[in-house]
Amino acid sequence: MSAIKIAIASDHAGYPLKRELDEELQRLGYQVLNLGTDGPDSVDYPDFGHALAERVASGEAELGVLVCGTGIGISIAANRNPRVRAALCHDTTSARLSRQHNDANVLVLGARMTGAEVAMDSLRVFLDTPFEGGRHARRVAKLG
Ligand code: RB5
Repeated sequence: MSAIKIAIASDHAGYPLKRELDEELQRLGYQVLNLGTDGPDSVDYPDFGHALAERVASGEAELGVLVCGTGIGISIAANRNPRVRAALCHDTTSARLSRQHNDANVLVLGARMTGAEVAMDSLRVFLDTPFEGGRHARRVAKLG
C-alpha cells in the first residue's frame, strides 16, 4: 500500500515551521508534496494557499498543511477553493474538532501564533482523527 500523500506549503513567515512539519510528516511515513516556499525571501501567501488548494481539490494530495505568519491569509486563500475546508488551528482541540466536525482537509497553522511543539502535536492529532459523519455530514454538505 502506498503512503498517504500530504501537500505542504507556506510563505516566508511560515517557512521555518513548515520545515519542521515536513520532517515530522516524513518521520511518520507520509509521502510529502512540498510546494514551497523554500527559503526566507519574502513571497505572497495567496500564491501558496491557492497552489496547495488545487492539489488537494484535484485529489493529488489527500490532505494539506499550510503555514503563514498568522495562518489567516493563507487559510482565506485556500478556502476560496470550493473543495477545500482549511481549518486555522491554534491547539490540539481545534485540530481535533476540525476533523471530527468539519472534515477539514487542510490544517493551517500560524507560525507567529503557535509554538512549534503545539504545532507538531496539532499536526499529529489532525492526521489521527477521523470525521465523525452523522449530523456533521449534513452540515459539511451545506458548505458547498
Ligand atoms: C507576512 O508578513 C504575513 O502577512 C503573512 O505571513 C500572514 O500572516 C498573512 O496572513
